[in-house]
Amino acid sequence: FVHQLADPAVDMRELLASPLWHESAPALPLPPALYGPARANSRGVDLSVPAMREPLLAALQDTALPQVPFFDAKLAASAYSTGADSYEKWSTTAVAERAACLRRGADALERELPRFCALLVQEAHKTWGDAVSELREAVDFLRYYAGEAERVMQPLELPGPTGESNTLRLTARGVWVCISPWNFPLAIFTGQVAAALVTGNTVLAKPAEQTPGIARAAVELLHAQGVPAGALQLLHGPGETVGAALVALPGIAGVAFTGSTAVAKTIERALAAKDGPIVPLIAETGGINAMLVDSTALPEQVTDAVLQSAFRSAGQRCSALRLLCVHEAVADGMIEMICGAARELVTGDPRRLSTDVGPLIDAQARDAVMRHVQRLHSEAKPLLPPVDRAQAAMNMVAPQAFEVARIGDVRQEIFGPVLQIVRWGTGELADPRAVMAQINALGYGLTLGIQTRIDSRAQALAGAARVGNVYVNRNTIGAVVGVQPFGGQGLSGTGPKAGGPHYLYRFCAEQTVTVNT
Ligand code: SER
Repeated sequence: FVHQLADPAVDMRELLASPLWHESAPALPLPPALYGPARANSRGVDLSVPAMREPLLAALQDTALPQVPFFDAKLAASAYSTGADSYEKWSTTAVAERAACLRRGADALERELPRFCALLVQEAHKTWGDAVSELREAVDFLRYYAGEAERVMQPLELPGPTGESNTLRLTARGVWVCISPWNFPLAIFTGQVAAALVTGNTVLAKPAEQTPGIARAAVELLHAQGVPAGALQLLHGPGETVGAALVALPGIAGVAFTGSTAVAKTIERALAAKDGPIVPLIAETGGINAMLVDSTALPEQVTDAVLQSAFRSAGQRCSALRLLCVHEAVADGMIEMICGAARELVTGDPRRLSTDVGPLIDAQARDAVMRHVQRLHSEAKPLLPPVDRAQAAMNMVAPQAFEVARIGDVRQEIFGPVLQIVRWGTGELADPRAVMAQINALGYGLTLGIQTRIDSRAQALAGAARVGNVYVNRNTIGAVVGVQPFGGQGLSGTGPKAGGPHYLYRFCAEQTVTVNT
């Protein structure tokens, strides 16, 4: 990065107020494999290289989307019995063997990259770039949790008085219900299921109604690599019937859920209303994710980060940027640059390599986004061309941006390519701490972007932010497994962080054994 003041409007007082500014070079991207060959992250695909790209495009012709029948919710108890029967054997299988199943699954997924990417493009309307990234994330989850299980499930000998031994060990809990979303139908599905399985639990997996074909392909792949059929069952159907029936099962040991905050709370209430043991819930939900930009930030870097964060995956990521807070000294130039670049993004058919922004998942999602867009047209200042009707008929919404007056005006997560922009620097938003306080007051807590060349400011804001993932001088999406453990706080979820060193503990029970020797 070249340190230059790209815009003469930069507020020099702000920059020079910190003696540290010249030391704060933005971090370079992390190397891909940080934790050695045993846990190395998956390999990528460079779509600009024909030899790498062509197998993917060919797979689109050859890959048929599996049809998955609805599961009859009335059979939930019998699926549970199958899972409970399978638990006896699976939970006592050596952790190394369970981990080996996951590692073989990772290798198979890498070998089958073109087919799985074709499924992601067809069923979830992913662009090729997003499909490859998602497949890599799924592979990373499998390898990472395999290694983590071998680490955390080792019994821990604790110090005690002479004549006594104390051992702390983790055990599986039982039959888990895993409910996963359509926006990462492979990565999040695989991550939840892999974590539950490798710790010795059995799984009733309910994928999103929109993406059962990818889930089925993933389940078949894991079965083929040694996960017993009874240990991993796929139960496809609507959340209101199948999901609700699974959560209501009396014997379940836990629920891992990724989706909306409203559904997470419904599940929490349903679990609390049951008789019997207290059932843990791991919920990863949404966010009103903000990026705070001060007058020292590099405009080109901000532009790239905003475009990636707000519009990649058509904004259908829980980590996506929803609220951009720009210092007024640089706001005009920054908004012009961001909107200029956003106009260049190609919205269209996800099968084309040139597409940047693919369609939303379905008409219902499009309608929800369009209701917000229409509201914002009357309440805020539109900064990008209106949505094209012909594109909207195909569920495509080109990037939208609106300038809003107050942070408090942004109350709801809009799950699409819609960015709201607020200026700060005067009045009640005179300083960045006040901006941060208002972002915290929104109640969500997933991702936060900070763009500044004042290192001490970045650290102070990160410390004040009540969010799970802070990204400084870069985009706010695409957390890498084992490198950027992912998950939020408050309305954004319960933790623990997926792809992090504490995730597997929550799938386990802990037991201390004290022996008088
Ligand atoms: N883990 C994804 C990301 O970081 C969101 O689910 O973008």
